[in-house]
Amino acid sequence: MAGGSGTRLWPLSRALYPKQFLALSGKDTLFQQAVRRLKTLSDDHIRLADPCIVGNEEHRFLTLDQLREIKVGASAVLLEPVGRNTAPALTLAALFARDELDDAEDPVLVVTPADQTVTDLPAFTAALRGAVDAAGDGSIVILGIRPDRPETGFGYIHARGDGAVRPVAAFAEKPDLETARRYLAEGHYYWNSGMFVLRASVWLKALAHFRPDIATATEDAWRQRQADNGFIRPGHDAFAAVPAESVDCAVMERCPADPHCGFTVKMVPLDAGWSDLGAWEAVWQVSEKDADGNVVHGDAITAACRNTLVHATSRLVSAVGLDNVVVVETSDAVLVADRNRSQEVRKIVAELEQRE
Ligand code: GDD
Ligand code: MG
Repeated sequence: MAGGSGTRLWPLSRALYPKQFLALSGKDTLFQQAVRRLKTLSDDHIRLADPCIVGNEEHRFLTLDQLREIKVGASAVLLEPVGRNTAPALTLAALFARDELDDAEDPVLVVTPADQTVTDLPAFTAALRGAVDAAGDGSIVILGIRPDRPETGFGYIHARGDGAVRPVAAFAEKPDLETARRYLAEGHYYWNSGMFVLRASVWLKALAHFRPDIATATEDAWRQRQADNGFIRPGHDAFAAVPAESVDCAVMERCPADPHCGFTVKMVPLDAGWSDLGAWEAVWQVSEKDADGNVVHGDAITAACRNTLVHATSRLVSAVGLDNVVVVETSDAVLVADRNRSQEVRKIVAELEQRE
């Protein structure tokens, strides 16, 4: 799933060049890292198809260029005319798997965001293989991260027991701070990594059960699809009419809340140095720091700064005496923010959209 807009990493992440296509940590972009990571799943038991990318029409060349750079061919690039959030995106992929993927009957889908980093690849591979195994019987499997702070930008999974595959009792998408603090204090709660593993037919049935409106509208758009040079485009107007909703709210929250729904959600813990590069704070967290905790990207000079991130792209940037600040310079916009409030950059982007 690579069709998000990444607004909290403004001004570097832009509508036409969102964060998943940027190299925010390491040489590869986040999208390239996500694609490469999945490649490691292939083994004697798992026959891996080429990745199916679901993204936005506007990013089709970025997507192709970045796949070419890492020498990966896609089984398809599904292009949305407008983003309708992740539930319709995953539905397109499941319909593709059902109708067009050669030589596979009801394959297991490994669904991943394109905006994350992982430092321990062997641990990632082992956990994902376990999830693929657990999804074989028709379970919906989510990958959970042990939380270390009451982050409000994530979904929370309430899992039971301590095995490698755990029953999920409840799922709450992006709770408020008070609720997130309570979850942390209670224990047994994990962050949703945003990675899901499930059979294509299971997703389609679960969506039809919980959100028949989204299922029907996306099927309509899919029926009107046009294929062209490896791109598949759902019907433009039909897709634009699909209700926007995330996978998390459409199915993951509703499923455990309804024990008789006929679908089972399970969690596999993922302990692999996972990080969601949602906001500048997270970029600071995963970046290499000097002795005073400063991160400098590009042409920048700092003096007497602490725990500060300076990202320069087109000019020399200098900073004196800053504490816990983020400075991001691009050719047409500069951001200066309290590092601990970098989530609120989305307010600036909302204001900019108002102006347009
Ligand atoms: N194709 C497509 N179309 N992709 C999309 C769309 C869309 O309309 N919207 C978002 N995506 C992609 C993003 O590019 C990203 O890779 C992924 O789907 C997840 O979307 P985000 O918008 O980044 O979601 P989030 O970070 O707020 O929340 C999700 O991820 C968290 C972990 O990072 C949820 O799953 C949370 O529960 C989870 O904790
Ligand atoms: Mg995200």
